[in-house]
Amino acid sequence: MCVRMIYQAGRFCWEIEMVTAEAFWDGVAAKYAERPIGDMAAYDATLERVASYLEPGDRVLEHGAGTGTTAIRLAPLVSGYVAADISGALLGIARERAAAQGAEGIEFRHAGLGRDTGADAAAFDAVMAFNLLHLMPDPQSAIHAMADAARPGGVVITKTACLNDGMRYLRPVLWIMRKLGRAPAVNIFSAAELDRMFEEAGLKIVETGWYSRKGAARFVVARKV
Ligand SMILES: C[S@@+](CC[C@H](N)C(=O)[O-])C[C@H]1O[C@@H](n2cnc3c(N)ncnc32)[C@H](O)[C@@H]1O
Repeated sequence: MCVRMIYQAGRFCWEIEMVTAEAFWDGVAAKYAERPIGDMAAYDATLERVASYLEPGDRVLEHGAGTGTTAIRLAPLVSGYVAADISGALLGIARERAAAQGAEGIEFRHAGLGRDTGADAAAFDAVMAFNLLHLMPDPQSAIHAMADAARPGGVVITKTACLNDGMRYLRPVLWIMRKLGRAPAVNIFSAAELDRMFEEAGLKIVETGWYSRKGAARFVVARKV
């Protein structure tokens, strides 16, 4: 159990966490890995936009890499790809899938966003996190950590559920599922609040979009100036 401060609907509040994020994701890893991608067209469209920012010589860091699906798709486009995740169980699945698909050039790292990733500051051309920032206890610090890992001129690329803008009906469902240990802690903020967090971290937003059938997944590309 841990007590943590979270950012919810425009304010900070205290929350008692019954399981850590690492324990939660380790516990659901096998089931999570079985789930197909919900909206394949949106996923493909997002990856197309991400790929347009990558160069063959780039070094990329992806936080919250999960089962490695995105890493396996993007790693062939660049010269170095670090896929990091807080869950050892998900990373195990990602390693197995990469090996089974003959994917090369991915370094899997057991590390949480904001914690020591073993990476030098400003070491990456692109730092990415998909469907992760809304799960972070302090998304602003998480964006700062991503900005620190990017080189000047490099990009931070994210896709984030902004539950203050859409899918509001999910909020009570999430609350109940969370109490049952079936969902992780989720921060609720709007796209406008998310954009402000990027700006406060000294990043310049160069592209935004909504890539999800239901409309609450905000894509943001921001450049470190
Ligand atoms: C909703 S899943 C998204 C997985 C993948 N990025 C995707 O889009 O399919 C969230 C992922 O973030 C990881 N995660 C949760 N909290 C984290 C943290 N503090 N630091 C790094 N990864 C974290 C989980 O283990 C899980 O793999």
